[in-house]
Amino acid sequence: MKNIHKHFGGVIALRGVDFTVGDNEVIGLIGDNGAGKSTLQKVLSGLYPPTKGEIYIRGEKINPRDYSVKKAHELGIETVFQEKALGEKQALWRNVFLGRQPVGPLGFLDVDKAKSETDRIMKDFLGFTGAGISPESTVSTLSGGERQGIAIGRAMYFEADLIILDEPTNALSVKEIGKVLDFIREVKRRGKSCVYISHTIAHIYEVSDRFVILDKGKIVDRREKGDLTEQELIDELTHHAAKSEEGADV
Ligand SMILES: Nc1ncnc2c1ncn2[C@@H]1O[C@H](COP(=O)(O)OP(=O)(O)OP(=O)(O)O)[C@@H](O)[C@H]1O
Ligand SMILES: [Mg+2]
Repeated sequence: MKNIHKHFGGVIALRGVDFTVGDNEVIGLIGDNGAGKSTLQKVLSGLYPPTKGEIYIRGEKINPRDYSVKKAHELGIETVFQEKALGEKQALWRNVFLGRQPVGPLGFLDVDKAKSETDRIMKDFLGFTGAGISPESTVSTLSGGERQGIAIGRAMYFEADLIILDEPTNALSVKEIGKVLDFIREVKRRGKSCVYISHTIAHIYEVSDRFVILDKGKIVDRREKGDLTEQELIDELTHHAAKSEEGADV
């Protein structure tokens, strides 16, 4: 992403952001409330067109008029939202194959295959064995962490090259958080990339290769994990937050 600006009427959410995700890299995107993290994620995942700036995927310049969440999926970019990842009233298998139905020889949805593949995703990627969840379960019966898990499992199943997670651990139990962090490690192990947005620095620090700090719509720092300790990262964020507050008084 080059020189990305995003305005919402008079609100300037992003002001000239340069952001690159490399091969097999986990990036922790951090910053205060309203810094522009979700906006950057939504521009990258095709939900919002940028007001200005350029996006390149595998070196190819993207035409903003052709770019959408669907197009991003086709290009191997999947986004996992805490809330909107899955449709509430549907069976899991329908959700997993939403918009990407496995079709049989006559072009009809292959329901048996969709169910068996969903079962495989649950066992292989998520370790849900006999937890009372099956491909037939309704999404509304799953816990927050389980939903998050299914959304991530789906992204992995379709072999997304880049998975973007926005606050995936909000309101999750300790055990579920552990699972989400395991997923991110698994993304890394499979040679894929991840952008991980969170306010919990301990989690970000644990799984990321490098950190990008956003403040009021601008990137204010980029650090490699090897260059600083978790405490130094926290100190740095505190420092930026304090500077923001000084700025707010002017
Ligand atoms: N759809 C929108 N319409 C108007 N303003 C918006 C919209 N989306 C975001 N903004 C504004 O853009 C700024 C950045 O918001 P954004 O959601 O990107 O922040 P964030 O870093 O994700 O914050 P948080 O950590 O609280 O999730 C905020 O001032 C917000 O009010
Ligand atoms: Mg946000």
